[in-house]
Amino acid sequence: MRSPSHAKAHVQVIGTGTYLPDRVLTNYDLEKLVDTTDAWITTRTGIKERRVADKHQATSDLAVKAAHKALQDAKLSAEAVDLIIVATATPDMFFPSTACFVQKALGIKEAVSFDLSAACSGFLFALDAARRMLEEGPYKTALLIGAEKLSMITNWEDRSTCVLFGDGAGAAVLQRRPGSKGVLSTYVRSDATHTDILWVPGGGSRAPATAEVVAKKLNTIHMEGKEVFKLAVHKMISAIHEALRLAHKKDTDLALLIPHQANLRIIEAIAKRVHVPRERIFVNLQKYGNMSAATTIVALDEARREGRVREGDLVALVAFGAGLTWGAAVIQF
Ligand code: UT7
Repeated sequence: MRSPSHAKAHVQVIGTGTYLPDRVLTNYDLEKLVDTTDAWITTRTGIKERRVADKHQATSDLAVKAAHKALQDAKLSAEAVDLIIVATATPDMFFPSTACFVQKALGIKEAVSFDLSAACSGFLFALDAARRMLEEGPYKTALLIGAEKLSMITNWEDRSTCVLFGDGAGAAVLQRRPGSKGVLSTYVRSDATHTDILWVPGGGSRAPATAEVVAKKLNTIHMEGKEVFKLAVHKMISAIHEALRLAHKKDTDLALLIPHQANLRIIEAIAKRVHVPRERIFVNLQKYGNMSAATTIVALDEARREGRVREGDLVALVAFGAGLTWGAAVIQF
């Protein structure tokens, strides 16, 4: 059992950072690749442009750059880190984990490093896991990263998916510290009845990347957009309410809601069903599209840098993705 002094400590987000590749791919650029228009993409998704990593950059390269910024923000050196979780659907390779490559690049001698696969909900799943690991110990400082090179698994001939995604990485440094602020709750769930409405069916052990699999583009993202859309709205609303209930807070207490950035219409549908004014809902998908596991942490970092997260603010993150997976967290800053 914890001592009363333990009960007053919380896992806090003490630093955040982002890395976005330099190359910008606009809707106009996409008009030249597939049968689409800036008008369609803008009205149906809200996305105007997204970032694409250099072909020589691996996911861990993006992750490490975000990690450096988060550590700088936390005013900590890399040696302090003893737990690294990289949430990604696009690891550098099957093994070693992307987290081990991050550990190597940061020069951390000994830590517990592993990848977490929960698609777009990956950062929320990582936050849930890290919070519990820091609470139980012996870990003291966690580096959580959401990083994706989705351009690698995008079918650049499929207009229904290639306009949606982008590459990027976000990182957070977490420590358990005395006081009432910090991660008040995390709530994550999976429902595996819909594994096939959003998946990359080839390239793994089920259908290895043979010439035939690659020719059929089975090693790229396949999505039934309308079905995913409906479930995303429903599950993210329930996740927000569950995380708030666990934190003993109400939606009206939120200074900022940071939803997964897949589609502006999904965010607007959520906005109609939570008591959070539109100006308190963070949106940056017009610049980056859907970066899967990187999305919510990049958005949190950007919101902090824009001065939209102040001391004492209650912030909720919520995400939804393949699996299906979904989750939310409530954080007192
Ligand atoms: O992180 C979680 C993962 N992803 C999501 O949450 C995404 C969820 N889904 C969505 O955001 C939307 O369903 C999409 C943006 C993917 C699609 O929007 P939609 O309003 O559901 O469009 P639709 O798939 O029903 O397609 C409507 C029409 C179709 O043409 P017809 O059959 O009506 O002639 C499509 O072929 O729009 C066409 N279409 C396009 N047209 C121009 C689909 N993609 C494009 C495109 N440009 N890029």
